[in-house]
Amino acid sequence: MKKFHLTTFGCQMNAHDSERMKGMLTSLGYAEVEARDDADLILFNTCSIRENADNRFISHLGEAKRLKTEDPGRIVGVGGCWAQSVKEEVFRRFPFVDVAFGPGQIHRLAEFLNSDSLTAQGYFEFEEFSGDLPSHRERQFQGWLQISQGCNCACSYCIVPTTRGREESRDPDLLIAEAERQSAEGVIELTLLGQNVNSYGRDLPKETRIRFSDLLRRVDQVDGIERIRYTSPHPKDMREDVIEAHAELSGLCEHIHLPLQSGSSVILKKMRRTYTRERYMDRVAMIRERLPDCGITTDIIVGFPGESDEDFAQTLEVVEEVGYDGAFTFIYSPRRGTLAAEMDGQVSHPVKKERMAALLEVVQRRAKAEAQRFVGRPLEVLVEGPSRNDPTRIRGRSRQNKAVNFEGTALPGQLVEVDITEATSQSLTGTERLLSRIAV
Ligand code: 5AD
Ligand code: SF4
Repeated sequence: MKKFHLTTFGCQMNAHDSERMKGMLTSLGYAEVEARDDADLILFNTCSIRENADNRFISHLGEAKRLKTEDPGRIVGVGGCWAQSVKEEVFRRFPFVDVAFGPGQIHRLAEFLNSDSLTAQGYFEFEEFSGDLPSHRERQFQGWLQISQGCNCACSYCIVPTTRGREESRDPDLLIAEAERQSAEGVIELTLLGQNVNSYGRDLPKETRIRFSDLLRRVDQVDGIERIRYTSPHPKDMREDVIEAHAELSGLCEHIHLPLQSGSSVILKKMRRTYTRERYMDRVAMIRERLPDCGITTDIIVGFPGESDEDFAQTLEVVEEVGYDGAFTFIYSPRRGTLAAEMDGQVSHPVKKERMAALLEVVQRRAKAEAQRFVGRPLEVLVEGPSRNDPTRIRGRSRQNKAVNFEGTALPGQLVEVDITEATSQSLTGTERLLSRIAV
């Protein structure tokens, strides 16, 4: 039996592509191995969102080169966003690479492996979604449903529109059929995936066109799906109907990721985010009003070109005001082919680092304060496995997407109630309520 090894970088979309890649390779008769040097087929699913994503990957590629030199019969394949962003150049710069393909083009890897001549091949045309491939889910009870591909936004810092192409929504009936199939296979938590999920549907033909909130409604009706999540939405498309869906649908989790990026309207304009600080705060107010217990998380970039001390202070103000339950914070990294990379006023690295430290302080302080609202309450937790730091304890997630570590006996895939006793900025601690197991 042939053996493969796959390393994944980047976002959940890539993680999902990798699961599909594993499913496909298994059906082609390949077995997965733990160690890269045991593999006949060495694969990378790459990310290019920031420079450090590139750098991390390049050092792995160095090891693949060494293994390929030791045994030239090995095949080295590179898929995903980095591959797409360098296209054919990849073969010139890294001549030991045999096959390269863009994000989502997993079926092209199969085509390559089944072809007679395994010489350098690149597949970079944007294509339709590559259909129903079998997926090797990391956990049987958590599934992903890719509802669209590509992105029509023009955020000036972001490489994704160049690596993943124009937005295309998948047919709603097809998606519901896939959700039903996953439920039958044991999935109870389903995460809808797209580069910009809440603009879903706008490109569909009139006969099948539905809004994102309608899709959520239909998924909520699928038997056996106890929890629905989605990532990532764009604040500009976070309208009342989506927030209403959170209030109404029992399966839709009380968590909204609302990427802020910057708290300064001047910078938001340069970022081409198409909302202002005020409009963003309106969304937050609407969420707080309709969904008082909702977890709110965000993404923030520091050191965007032209960001002054005053602009940055506005970001801190927003973080202070909103009190996010969690935030992914990034140092701006110029990306090839993006507008922002060519802008004047690039911020020096020491200033970026200073701002990052100041931002983290506020993010963590506010997240810790907000998390105290859970102390003394029971929360529904989906068990994922043993705790990372203490394997005698159990780890899971609340509906608000908080990590919860607790004492108890529950098994992965079970929904249990946990009494919360303590809260930090990162996670909650508690004890399982015995006899509270929620039957699903
Ligand atoms: N530099 C830094 N952060 C970036 N992101 C996207 N592009 C860049 C970049 N060039 C961040 C944004 C986005 C998240 C996925 O990554 O915050 O929401
Ligand atoms: Fe990385 Fe963005 Fe591509 Fe995801 S879509 S793999 S985050 S570059």
